[in-house]
Amino acid sequence: MCGIVGYVGERNAAPIIVEGLKCLEYRGYDSFGLAVADGTATDGGGKLTVVKKQGRISDAGSDVSLACGNIGIGHTRWATHGVPSDVNAHPHTDCTGDIAVVHNGIIENYAELKKTLIAEGHVFKSETDTEVIAHLLEKFRNAAAEKGLSGIEKVDFAVKNLMDTLEGSFALLILIRGFNGLIAIKRFSPLVLGIGDDELFASSDMTPILEHTQKILFLEDNDYAYLMPDGIRLFGYPSAKTVERDVKTVDWDVESAKKGGYEYFMEKEIFEQPAVFVNSFRQKIDDGAVSVLKKASSITVVACGSSYHAGLIFRYLMEKYCKIPVRVEIASEFLNFTTAKGTVVIAVTQSGETADTLAALRHAKANGCPVFAVTNVLGSSVTRIADYVLYTRAGPEISVAATKSFIAQCAVLLRIVSIIGKGIFEKELFEIYPVLEETLLFDPADASAVCKDAENIFYVGRGVYYPISLEGALKMKEITYIHAEGCAAGELKHGPFSLLTPKTPVVAVCTKDDAYPVMISNIKEMKARGAPVIAIGSGGDADLKEIADIFIPLPRSKNICEVISATIILQMIAYNTAVLLGRDVDKPRNLAKSVTVI
Ligand code: F6R
Repeated sequence: MCGIVGYVGERNAAPIIVEGLKCLEYRGYDSFGLAVADGTATDGGGKLTVVKKQGRISDAGSDVSLACGNIGIGHTRWATHGVPSDVNAHPHTDCTGDIAVVHNGIIENYAELKKTLIAEGHVFKSETDTEVIAHLLEKFRNAAAEKGLSGIEKVDFAVKNLMDTLEGSFALLILIRGFNGLIAIKRFSPLVLGIGDDELFASSDMTPILEHTQKILFLEDNDYAYLMPDGIRLFGYPSAKTVERDVKTVDWDVESAKKGGYEYFMEKEIFEQPAVFVNSFRQKIDDGAVSVLKKASSITVVACGSSYHAGLIFRYLMEKYCKIPVRVEIASEFLNFTTAKGTVVIAVTQSGETADTLAALRHAKANGCPVFAVTNVLGSSVTRIADYVLYTRAGPEISVAATKSFIAQCAVLLRIVSIIGKGIFEKELFEIYPVLEETLLFDPADASAVCKDAENIFYVGRGVYYPISLEGALKMKEITYIHAEGCAAGELKHGPFSLLTPKTPVVAVCTKDDAYPVMISNIKEMKARGAPVIAIGSGGDADLKEIADIFIPLPRSKNICEVISATIILQMIAYNTAVLLGRDVDKPRNLAKSVTVI
């Protein structure tokens, strides 16, 4: 996730872009940059100035005062391809320096495109996926010129060919020296336009725009627009025909706009999960990493908290479907143990900075094990220790409680299972998006009404739903401060049963998988001790509905998709309960987002 912003008008663009980027820093903040054009020039003339740096826009100081002109674009980055650095910061330019591009999203076919462009003589400066866009535009503009096209026709030709060529997700803002306007393109990444008095704005969300105008135009996927001093020209791809979009008057304040209208970041992050899962699962894993994983005689995962639970989910699936032994260790305990040479060790860490996880990975490396990192933060400390790094594509997570980063970890770990398991789950998980969208329609009110008055809540499941129960309980306890405990359903009768009363709700995850019959018996045993049961199960399961006090049906889908849906349902119940209790959801007491001390 990155933030992009653009301006066309009569004012100097740079200060407006800088203030806009400050509003978007929650989308990423490892580097920033802007390009400003003097819009008075005609084709072939004018000046285009680019300023970009590693660091936060708030530290930009006088660097940006060099950029003068009334058309501008800017970017605040959350690195996905190429470490945070001056050269990898956006905007990216073509060989001539006449085209500047800022991008939010991922170009999935960038590696092939880059190879071809280099073979055709283009010179690349950065490691990013975005830079191919600038060079492609250069190539298509040259092709247009050879056909005798000029002015707007040349731009049309280049944009149409660009959209034909790019695969993946992108919101783009493009400046071309001498083109008296800016180009905005949207496909599967957010982009909105703002319409002021004699000025136009573009941005990843409306936060930078609201201080200038409340009139917002929401672009749809495959829309592209030319923002010119005399107005917006809006087209649909591939028809290249003019399209009409409603302009809405939005009266949100900037803070609620940052949260996309959601009350807390946690809620927003929960709702981002369909796209986060798909982006994280669909990525290509480096051949070298795949070959090491394929040769592994055993795998050990080291992690803390939610990341540890993601490791446990991986264990169940890897052992069942790939028959590779997997150990999962709490990172802070790992130094007590030995690891056989030849074992591949994977650190799972959202932040890439958790001190215990780093220490565990160093320990494994010192023992001669090949070490991997699954992390959300490019260039984080763990990436410097690991031999191989697999990135989750969650974007920055603001809320302390992990939601979308956890789902992204599950996606990357499932990708490994799928690769080692010769394509198992690939089809189901490539097509999971609508299932997760449907999951988000769940209304947690009834379940939360029961949970909010409890002092203790049990979460139970079998197989892969055991770690999911641990994660559900962790979410509940950390943001509501209600004691919640995750248990393997079969373990309850070995002790915790003595705690069950009509005042201890049990959240049971019981889909129609191999463990279903025995889970049903376990649920009946809990009911017999008087505990109210909130059961999450497969859609249409009349038997479970009959037994449970509250039955939450999952969208009808394949077993593997239910694993992800059930996790989201548990997050939604915890979130809603915390809101009912008036908790500070995004910043629960005593907790920090990144635990950098042992
Ligand atoms: C729980 C949560 C924590 C983290 C843990 C590890 O919601 O966020 O349990 O999962 O602190 O952090 P990372 O993944 O950054 O190593």
